Amino acid sequence: MNSESSNSRRDFLAKTGSLIAGSIFIHPVSEALNLWNKPGEKMKLALVGTGIRGTTMFGRDVMRVYKDQVEFVGLCDINEGRVKYAKTFIGVDCPTYTDCDQMLKEVRPDVLIVTTMDSTHNQFIIKGLEAGINVITEKPMTTDEVKCQNILDAERKSGKKVIVTFNYRYSPHRQKIYEILRAGEIGTITSVDFHWYLNTSHGADYFRRWHGYRDKSGTLLVHKSTHHFDLLNWWLDSDPVEVFAFGELEFYGKNGPYRGETCRSCTHKNECDFYWDVTKNEHLKNLYVENEQYDGYHRDGCVFREDINIYDKMAVQIKYKNKVQVSYSLTTYSPYEGYRIAFNGTKGRVEAWVKESQPWKVEPQDEIRLTKNFGESEIIVVPHGGGGHGGGDTRLKDKIFKDPSMADPWRQAAGTRDGAMSCLIGIAARNSIETGKPIKIKDLTDIPLAESGRGI
Ligand SMILES: NC(=O)c1ccc[n+]([C@@H]2O[C@H](COP(=O)([O-])OP(=O)(O)OC[C@H]3O[C@@H](n4cnc5c(N)ncnc54)[C@H](O)[C@@H]3O)[C@@H](O)[C@H]2O)c1
Repeated sequence: MNSESSNSRRDFLAKTGSLIAGSIFIHPVSEALNLWNKPGEKMKLALVGTGIRGTTMFGRDVMRVYKDQVEFVGLCDINEGRVKYAKTFIGVDCPTYTDCDQMLKEVRPDVLIVTTMDSTHNQFIIKGLEAGINVITEKPMTTDEVKCQNILDAERKSGKKVIVTFNYRYSPHRQKIYEILRAGEIGTITSVDFHWYLNTSHGADYFRRWHGYRDKSGTLLVHKSTHHFDLLNWWLDSDPVEVFAFGELEFYGKNGPYRGETCRSCTHKNECDFYWDVTKNEHLKNLYVENEQYDGYHRDGCVFREDINIYDKMAVQIKYKNKVQVSYSLTTYSPYEGYRIAFNGTKGRVEAWVKESQPWKVEPQDEIRLTKNFGESEIIVVPHGGGGHGGGDTRLKDKIFKDPSMADPWRQAAGTRDGAMSCLIGIAARNSIETGKPIKIKDLTDIPLAESGRGI
């Protein structure tokens, strides 16, 4: 970068920084999403769903970093072997349960963390709210429109709050895009091109697990794309109004050349590119393989199982209340992982090509290109944050556990409205594929749609 462009970048960063700082004072969301108002006292946590996410991100990692702020008072999972192992792995001394109602009654936590399979989130969010406590739930908030409405109703009735953990919002690169857009650098945003690629390792893994079934994950349009749709809603600061989509299953599932039940028991180990030995990872072996006797769940299911019924390529068109049009796609069998995004505006364009896996060298930083109509093009470099999901996981947990009253100038804390709006786009896309018709978001729940995504 030459000195002229680095000067203009400094001016630009200073400008966006002050604009964002100014917005702290007009933002009501962070107040509402502070789950804790007893500074000095430890937050009593109960967790339901002691799988990989529950034991690591919200289990062991929370105990390692926030043990002065929180304590676990109960762990629950439908699999009795897994929840016992989880207690040892997380390193806590609380009771374990297979019945969440019993846990809530006996241990009386301040907050319930929900990290179960997607299609069950609604049950536990509602149980927590009805027990009179705040809830932290993993994404997607839920998997269909009826469950979504039930969560909204339960929250309104309870007077308690639900945080939906959209960690993707917290990565420094995506935060910088938010700043650039909010600062008006490209004028009024008119359209977005957004294309996400999952590779034959991470992408294929969704087809090994429960995620391959529509009734459990809601399809990847809900399970995975909820992250991407939430980013869009947040970046664009508007509500989605209408969705049209196509989707097919044409690579995994019944399309495979051969199949078995699991990789471990398969006769095609030597010829299958997707062969994967779950027992090589000690934690995965202890979590899943050692506990198959309790629920029959195989973590290394064949990616070519005949009964997989989700899509592996998806294309979605979204129209927003502020008239922005989005073209989105998700491909699940790419040779590499990452995404391309471009925002087209009346005064220019912001774009990024984020590479998340080999074959390219994955740099410790990402770039954003900002190009003004009739003007210059500059590259803005954003270093990755430390920890999972580009630094997002750590920053999200700091806000929830370390300093819940922390200011939220980028509006990264998300509640049920944001949780609903993102999963409703995926649900609408799925309904559109199934009916061949465009789906209106307002027909799915009673949330009034707004020009601004904050409901104002
Ligand atoms: N934000 C992110 O980046 C991110 C990353 C990974 C997972 N997740 C989310 O975390 C959640 C858990 O995913 P995971 O990868 O840990 O899956 P997992 O299969 O490892 O764990 C899910 C756990 O839920 C338990 N469970 C299922 N139904 C239950 C029920 N009715 N009652 C009690 N327990 C039940 C299972 O036995 C299992 O232990 C999912 O909702 C997923 O979307 C989010």
